[in-house]
Amino acid sequence: MRDALVEAHSAAHGRTDDLVIDFQLTHSGRYCRPNPGGAFEPRVAFRHPLLDARFRDSDDSQIITDTELRILISDYVKSARLALERGADFVDIKHCHGYLLHEFLGARGRSGEFGGSFENRTRLLREIVSGIRADGNPIGLGVRLSAFDFVPFVPDASRARNGRLGPGMPVGIDGLETYPFGFGHDLASPLVPDLTETRQFIELCHALGITLINLTAGSPYYVPHIQRPAAFPPSDRHQPPEDPLVGVARQTGVVRAIKATAPPEMVFVGTGYSYLQEFLPNVAQATVRNGWVASVGLGRMVLAYPEIVTEAVSGRDIARTRVCRTFSDCTTAPRNGLPSGCYPLDPHYKSMPEAEQLKKTKQAAGV
Ligand SMILES: Cc1cc2nc3c(=O)[nH]c(=O)nc-3n(C[C@H](O)[C@H](O)[C@H](O)COP(=O)(O)O)c2cc1C
Repeated sequence: MRDALVEAHSAAHGRTDDLVIDFQLTHSGRYCRPNPGGAFEPRVAFRHPLLDARFRDSDDSQIITDTELRILISDYVKSARLALERGADFVDIKHCHGYLLHEFLGARGRSGEFGGSFENRTRLLREIVSGIRADGNPIGLGVRLSAFDFVPFVPDASRARNGRLGPGMPVGIDGLETYPFGFGHDLASPLVPDLTETRQFIELCHALGITLINLTAGSPYYVPHIQRPAAFPPSDRHQPPEDPLVGVARQTGVVRAIKATAPPEMVFVGTGYSYLQEFLPNVAQATVRNGWVASVGLGRMVLAYPEIVTEAVSGRDIARTRVCRTFSDCTTAPRNGLPSGCYPLDPHYKSMPEAEQLKKTKQAAGV
């Protein structure tokens, strides 16, 4: 895949010295589906009163132990070595989207070396980094971080229409005095970002020599609308509870606020721009030009229209028929065991037999 990527970049741009390749290192934690058949086999940082039932976490044996974490740290070190040998320029030690290392940032109630204090909750990052360096591996390091999170949302069943799930609403905080399970939100009011610990985490990255940070938000599993704002959410998730532009503005605003107080060497990549559709290049230009972010990373738009930035930068018109309209098939497909890709717009995916299967799955879900 790496060779194909380098060749394609060379063919498109006539050079490769501007190409930087990252391998993302992650453990899917609560959302692990490691075996054929795709059943959830969760490994979690702690029991979660709201997420446990939703993702089949029902047993204390699913809590990953400190001993297992020590093995996991050495697996990250081995993976970073493999990444170097396979030609990655850097590895991203992923701390976002509800996956394991992100969940550990909210493990305030966990006892032992990896829970409780901020220092303990960030021990995995420190030990993975020191392990990679102790291995003599000079590879570049980056971190992808969910800068803020919300309490989980569920579809409002009273507003379901024509078999389609209702708009999202926050769940389950009524009985809880505080919601201490996430990261980057006000513990007493978990729909309000609180960036105090987020900033502390950025300082930690800086101290560890990690200056490249991609900021994202929340999780696609329980708050997709803050993470990847969409007009048409995946078939198994709630309808947008807010105008998706609000989600885009929230993410760009948080990135701007974090960058404003971070050490100047820190390089921030912003995310969540695809819902801007044909205005994506304009907004990206404005945020970079105003110094709110160093760079903009693209998710869904790149699946639909990989050349959009090249075309915008060279002054060509944007092809409106190729723009991602956030139909979320790229997410609905893998949730149903099908390959991810842009089924509505990419001719390759459009013509695959899986496209028909996806259509049926969506119809069954009322979409
Ligand atoms: C189909 C699909 C797969 C994704 N896979 C990953 C992944 O492996 N790692 C990751 O950090 N983010 C992943 N993301 C999230 C994106 O990187 C990005 O944060 C999100 O799509 C919002 O940006 P956008 O508005 O440009 O799409 C994925 C998103 C989609 C739609």
